[in-house]
Amino acid sequence: MKKEDPATSFAAAVKALLTTDSFGRELIYLPETTSTNQIAAEYAERGHAEGMVIAAGSQTEGRGRFQRVWYSPPDDNLYFSLILRPSKPPSVIPQLSLMAGIAVARAIQSVTPGLPVGTKWPNDVLIGERKVCGILCELRTDADIIRHVILGAGVNVNIEQGGFPPELEKTATSLKIAAGRSVPRPRLLATILAEMEWMYDQWRNLGFDSLLDEWRKVSILGGRRVTVVTMNQRIRGSVDGLAPSGALLLRGDDGGIQEIHSGDVHLEDWKDS
Ligand code: BTN
Repeated sequence: MKKEDPATSFAAAVKALLTTDSFGRELIYLPETTSTNQIAAEYAERGHAEGMVIAAGSQTEGRGRFQRVWYSPPDDNLYFSLILRPSKPPSVIPQLSLMAGIAVARAIQSVTPGLPVGTKWPNDVLIGERKVCGILCELRTDADIIRHVILGAGVNVNIEQGGFPPELEKTATSLKIAAGRSVPRPRLLATILAEMEWMYDQWRNLGFDSLLDEWRKVSILGGRRVTVVTMNQRIRGSVDGLAPSGALLLRGDDGGIQEIHSGDVHLEDWKDS
């Protein structure tokens, strides 16, 4: 028997809690799948509308940024992907991905108040120093036109202490571990979708600037000393904010400012960074 909602299906439980206009109104829940990003991309290619969500109980090929594997064991966590079709150029994708991190952080604050939730550029969501959610934005374009964006998120929800594989044990956490109680996954998903829809509307109508205040509220990086590891270099500096594109602005020791478009950020004063 499932640990939650034994009487209703997951999809029905989420739909009953939705406050959105379109996000999640078309929702498919798969008890097990390869990767919700892959399945959502297939639905998007078949013409399904913006706002459709594919969620899963577990993933056999869950994927993360830089071709990493996303740990996706059954039933305890949230794995979902949202189809978006913004009428904007592909260069805005980093903004969308930042938006998604902020939305998840806000939803966690609302469902489990009081936890030290923050985001680490570009879009890791953390509790304290540990990662609780990862986001992967993938897009398909035709020349310079976006056909679709798949915005996928994995949230560690009810996985227990000791439930992570050794390589994640020191860097990952779950809402249950942090809050000391189980969190209903349908409620969390409905809340994330509400936050995402609100932020997406803001972004579409008013632009990325309208989200900067929210980013500053949840980002843990403002002014901090970091090392950014990119594909081919390590760059040290202090975080100076965001460029209009969503790139991270890093002030080097020589005072010069560099725009970082992709990479992993490690805080210099963290033990596990
Ligand atoms: C990262 O931090 O590297 C991003 C992880 C993204 C994982 C989610 S789980 C749902 C969706 N499907 C996938 O295969 N990946 C994303």
